[in-house]
Formats: sequence, structure tokens, C-alpha cells
Amino acid sequence: MNDVSNENRASSETSTGQAMKRMAIGIALLVVLTVLLYLAAPDSFYPWAKAIHVIAVISWMAGMLYLPRLFVYHVDAERGSVQSETFKVMERRLLRGIINPAMTATWVFGLWLAWKGFGFQGGWLHAKIALVLILSGLHGYLAGAVRKFAEDKNEKPARHWRIVNEIPTLLMIVIVILVIVKPF
Ligand code: HEM
Repeated sequence: MNDVSNENRASSETSTGQAMKRMAIGIALLVVLTVLLYLAAPDSFYPWAKAIHVIAVISWMAGMLYLPRLFVYHVDAERGSVQSETFKVMERRLLRGIINPAMTATWVFGLWLAWKGFGFQGGWLHAKIALVLILSGLHGYLAGAVRKFAEDKNEKPARHWRIVNEIPTLLMIVIVILVIVKPF
């Protein structure tokens, strides 16, 4: 069983290195694309920034909804089993390859839109930022859980992760209503 987990660990370290490389290339491409778009049409950059913001939001939310679902299944996998080691690789890749960069892009473009379009004014915007801070705190909590699962130290039952799974959904619904309806 130890051989299996050592082999899995070695191959997951290599693939984590590749995932980091792909992520760095992705971020570099996004930065170049953003600069080019801004230089080509500085006056119509706002809708482009909003488009990139929404793409980043979708990617972040997809990861935030999938990660606790992986934990629900991971809890039931025997420690040291091939299945458990595979979950560790999936969780680490999802966090580092998608969730972390998507959250960064959401914040960078969201704050720029808030400054450029609204001068950081508006009750809906303040409420939205407060809820996104809570979402970011949950992100930190899930990142900590990925580390605990990687060290086989998770003590929380599947029910806990099922409940945690609902939090990003609820936050997302309220955040989207706030930004589109702008009720106050
Ligand atoms: C990180 C902090 C965030 C800030 C500061 C921020 C701020 C903004 C601003 C100022 C706009 C432009 C609104 C307009 O032009 O009418 C916007 C658009 C949008 N944001 Fe965010 N946002 C953030 C995170 C999020 C998150 C987490 C979500 C979803 C879960 C989200 C969903 C959206 C959507 C769907 C739009 C497009 C709305 C439209 O076109 O009417 N944002 N955001």
C-alpha cells in the first residue's frame, strides 16, 4: 500500500509542477490579452473587463462548488488507498490550477470595475464586496482542508462537507442579484 501511495505522490508532484507551469502560462496570456485590449481601445475597455470578470467568476464558482463535493467522496475512501491518493491529486489540481487563479482574476477585475464604473460608491456594491469577502474566507477554509486531506488529517464527516457545499451556492445567488438588480 505504501508503494502505491509513494508512486502516486511522485507522479502527483510531477503533474503538480506541470499544472503550475500551465497556470503561469495562462496568467501570462491573460495579462498580455488585457494589456492589448486596453491599448487597442482604452475607451471601450470596461465591457471587456466585465466579460473577463464574469469568466473568472464562473471558473471560481465551478471550483468552489466542486471541491467540497470531492471532500464528501474523499471522506469515504480508505486512508492510503489508490482512491484516496487520486482524490488528493484532484483536489490539489483544482485548487491550484483553477480556484486560486480564478479568484485572483475575479478580485483584480472586480475592483477595477468598482473603481472605474462606480468610484466604489453604492449600497449594493458595499454589500456585494462584504459577501465576496465571506466567499474568500470560505476559499481559505477549503484551501486549509485540501492540506488536511493531503496529510490524512481530516476529521470532519461527509455531512459537514455536504453542508459547506451549500454556502457558496447561497452566497452566489445573493451576489448575482445584488450586482444585476442593484436593489439599493
Ligand atoms: C471580488 C470582488 C468583486 C467586486 C469588487 C465586483 C464588482 C463588480 C462590478 C463593479 C461590476 C460591474 C457592474 C456593472 O457594470 O453594472 C461587476 C459585474 C459582475 N459581477 Fe462582480 N465583483 C466581485 C466579485 C463577484 C462575484 C464573486 C460574483 C459572482 C458570484 C460576481 C458576479 C458579477 C456579475 C454576474 C457581473 C455582471 C453584471 C452585469 O453585467 O450587470 N462578481 N462586479
